[in-house]
Amino acid sequence: MASKLLFLLCFLILPPKLSCSSNPQTWVRAGYWNANAKAELSVSDIKSALFTHLICSFAFVDSTTFLLKINSSDDPSFSTFSGIVRRRNPSITTLLSIWVGKNEAPTFAGLVDRSSKRKAFIDSSIKTARDYGFDGFDLCGVMPGSSTNMTNLGTLLAEWREAVASESRNSGKSPLLLVMSSHRVPRLDSVSYPIESMNSNLDWVHINAYDYYVPTVDNFTAAHAALYAPPGTANTDEGIREWLNSGISASKLVLGLPYHGYAWELADPGHDSGFGSPASGPAITMDGSIGYKIIKSVGVNPVYNSTYVVSYYKVGSNWINFDDVEAIKAKVSYAKAKGLLGYCVFQLANDYNWVLSQAAAQGSHRDQFIKKHLLVIILVIVVIVILLTGAFLYYLEMRIFKFKGIMFVVKKTLSKLGDKISADADVDNGHNSPNLQVFSFASIKAATNDFSSKNKLGEGGFGPVYKGKLPNEQDIAVKRLSKTSNQGLEEFKNEVTLTAGLQHVNLVRVLGICTEREEKMLVYEYMPNGSLDFYLFDPARRNLLDWKKRVQIIEGVTQGLLYLQEYSNFTIIHRDLKASNILLDGNMNSKISDFGVARLFRKDVLEANTSRIVGTYGFVPPEYVKRGIYSMKYDVYSFGVLLLQIISGKRTSNYYGCNENLNLLEYAYELWKEGQGLEFFDPSLDDSFSSCKLMRCMQVALLCVQENSADRPSMLEVSTMLKNEVLGINAPKQPAFSINKDRDKENQSLSRETLLSANDVTITQLVPR
Ligand SMILES: *[C@@H]1O[C@H](CO)[C@@H](O)[C@H](O)[C@H]1NC(C)=O
Ligand SMILES: *[C@@H]1O[C@H](CO)[C@@H](O)[C@H](O)[C@H]1NC(C)=O
Ligand SMILES: *[C@@H]1O[C@H](CO)[C@@H](O)[C@H](O)[C@H]1NC(C)=O
Ligand SMILES: *[C@@H]1O[C@H](CO)[C@@H](O)[C@H](O)[C@H]1NC(C)=O
Repeated sequence: MASKLLFLLCFLILPPKLSCSSNPQTWVRAGYWNANAKAELSVSDIKSALFTHLICSFAFVDSTTFLLKINSSDDPSFSTFSGIVRRRNPSITTLLSIWVGKNEAPTFAGLVDRSSKRKAFIDSSIKTARDYGFDGFDLCGVMPGSSTNMTNLGTLLAEWREAVASESRNSGKSPLLLVMSSHRVPRLDSVSYPIESMNSNLDWVHINAYDYYVPTVDNFTAAHAALYAPPGTANTDEGIREWLNSGISASKLVLGLPYHGYAWELADPGHDSGFGSPASGPAITMDGSIGYKIIKSVGVNPVYNSTYVVSYYKVGSNWINFDDVEAIKAKVSYAKAKGLLGYCVFQLANDYNWVLSQAAAQGSHRDQFIKKHLLVIILVIVVIVILLTGAFLYYLEMRIFKFKGIMFVVKKTLSKLGDKISADADVDNGHNSPNLQVFSFASIKAATNDFSSKNKLGEGGFGPVYKGKLPNEQDIAVKRLSKTSNQGLEEFKNEVTLTAGLQHVNLVRVLGICTEREEKMLVYEYMPNGSLDFYLFDPARRNLLDWKKRVQIIEGVTQGLLYLQEYSNFTIIHRDLKASNILLDGNMNSKISDFGVARLFRKDVLEANTSRIVGTYGFVPPEYVKRGIYSMKYDVYSFGVLLLQIISGKRTSNYYGCNENLNLLEYAYELWKEGQGLEFFDPSLDDSFSSCKLMRCMQVALLCVQENSADRPSMLEVSTMLKNEVLGINAPKQPAFSINKDRDKENQSLSRETLLSANDVTITQLVPR
C-alpha cells in the first residue's frame, strides 16, 4: 500500500517540469490609459492582469525646445503610472505615448527635419522613460500625407532604434520598446508611411482601426469601425490587407479596438434605422462620440450585425453604433487568424466593468489558455499530493506513529491553500462596481411602498417622483418615466448618460437605474428639504431662508455650475436651471438636479446649434429662442434669472412696475438704473452682517442676463465678482426680452456711458481705502 502511494506521489510530482517555456513573441494585449480621463478611471483601478502592455497617454513634443514634454498637471500621473500598474501585474510592460496630431504636425515636421533636433528629442525621450520607469514609447497620431516628411520620419525611427539599443548596451537594461500608432491604411493621398523603416525599427505598429465615419462629417449613419463592409466603404479588413500588401510583416501589426461608439441624429427618425440612413449631425455629445460605459449604462438592446461586425441601436431620433462584446471577440479572432501580433484598446476608461477587456483577453491566446489551465492542473496536482500525503501520514499515524504535529501542519497548509484558491477566484471574477447601481423592479417597488401616492413627491414632465427607503435605511428619490410618454425616453437616456460620470457636492447624485419590465426609473439621493421654489415664492416659508442661507445657496449653485463648465472632463450645459431644479439637502446646501435636457460638449467647442427648443420659458436666453444656439452662456443667463429671484422672491411669470408692464428682468434693470434696488429686494432680507451684498448680487445678475451672450460674464467671473466685494464690475446693459424696442438705441448709448463711468469707479475702487 505504502509503496503504491509512493509511486503515485513520484508520478504526480514529476509533471512540474512542464511549466511552459515562455514564447519569445507573446500575444500583445495592450490598452491606452488617458491622463485626461483620470477622474473616470484612476491608475490604481486598472485591471493590469488583463493586459500585457499598458500605454500612458499623452506626452508632447515641446514646440520650442523639441524635447519630450509632459504637461505639469499630468506629470504626477506619468511618474507614478508604471509603479502602480505593476503592483497588480508585475510582468506588465508600460509605454509612454507621445501625441503628434494635426496641431503638433508643424513642430514635429521641424523636429524630424534636423539631425540635431532629432538627437535632442531622442535623448530626452530615453531619459524621461527611464526616470519614470517606462519600458518604451508609443508615437501616436502621425498621418501620412500630412506636412511631415515621411523620409525624415523613417530616419528618426532608425536613429531612435539605434539610440535605444546603445542605451541598453551601456546600462545593461533591456532595450526600450518602440511602437507607433498608425492610420487604418498605410497610404493616404498617395503619400505612404516609411514602411521599410517601420518594419525594421519598430517593435510593432498599432492600427487605429476606428473613426472611419463620424457624425460631424458624414450625413448618413455608418459603422465607424466595421471589420467588414461592402467595397467602397471603409473597413478594417481592407485596411489590414493594404498594410500587409505594403510589405510590413503581419507579426508587426497590432489591431486597434475601439471602446467608444458614435451617435447620429436621424433626419427621418420615423423611417430609418439601418446603415446609410440620412442624418443631420451628431447626437448626445458634441461630436457624437460616446464611451462604451455610457452606452451600456443606458441599458438598451442593440442589434449585432455579424456581416459588418458592429452593434447598433435606435433610441428616439438617435442612432448609435459601437463595438459590443461580440464585435470585440470577432475582431480578436480575426487578428489571430491573420497572424497579427495582438490588439490594443482605446481607451480603458471607456470600458464598462471590464466587460470588453475580459472578452478580448479570453481566448486571446492559446499560450495564455494553456498557462491558465496549467496553473489549474498544477494546483489540482498539489492538492492531490497533499491529500495523499495526508492520507498516507494518517495511515502511518494510525498504524505506526503518532505524528500529530505533521498532521496539524498538513491540515493548516490545506486550509491555507483553500483560502488562496478562493481568493484567486474572487480576483478572477473581479467585479468592479460600475458607476451606477442597477436596481430590480421589486426592490424599488418595496422601497416606495408600491409607488403609493403617499410617497409621491411631485410630478415632472418626465413622470412622477417618489420617495423611497432602501433596506439599508438610505432614503432615495425615484423618478419613474411614464410608460405612455415617448418624449421622456430621450431625456431619460440623456440624464443617465450624463450623470453617470458626474460627481460634485453641488449636483444631485444619481445612485442607479431600473430598466426592468419596460420601466425606466432613475434613483437619486433623497433631498429632504425639497426644491428652492417651495420656499422662495411662499409668503410664509420664504422667511425660513434668511440672507445667510440664501448666500450659501447661491454659492452652491455657483460651484455646481463651475464644475459643469470648467472642472469636469466635458463642458456640460444644463439648459434647465431654475428654482425648482435647485434641491436642498438636510443642511440647506443647494444641489443642481435634472439633467434631462443637458448637453455635453468637448472642451474645445464653444457653442452649438440645436433644432429642439427645450428649457423653461423665462430662463431661456434670446439667442436660443431665436436661433437655437446654446453655449455656456445659456446657463449663465439662467443663473442670472435665478439670482434675481433669490434676492427678490419674485416669479418670472408675473409683470411688475407701476403699470405692471415690465417683466422681471426689465423691472430689475429699471430699478437698478434709478438706484432703487432696495425696492426690488425681498423685504425680509438683511445683508448688513454679510460680506455678500444684495446690491452687488443684483448687478452681477443683470450682467448675466444681458441680451448679447458675449457681454455676459463667464461663471468663473461671476464667482470672482460675488466673492470679491471690492472688485469693480461693469454696469449691465439692457437685459434680454425688453418689450420696449424703441428704447434700444437710446439705451445702447446710455449703457456705454454708464460703462465708462463704471470703469472710472473701478479705478478709484482699486485704490485701497
Ligand atoms: C498639454 O500641452 C500640449 C502642448 O503644449 C497642449 O496642446 C495640450 O492641450 C496640453 N494638455 C493639457 C491637458 O493641458
Ligand atoms: C523629404 O526629405 C528628403 C531628405 O531630407 C528629401 O530628399 C525629400 O525630397 C523630402 N520629401 C518631400 C516630399 O519633401
Ligand atoms: C449629404 O452630403 C452630401 C455631400 O456633402 C450632399 O450632396 C447631400 O445632399 C447631403 N444629404 C443630406 C440629406 O443632407
Ligand atoms: C447587416 O446589415 C447589412 C446592411 O443593412 C445587411 O445587408 C445584412 O444582411 C446584415 N447582416 C445581418 C447578419 O443581419
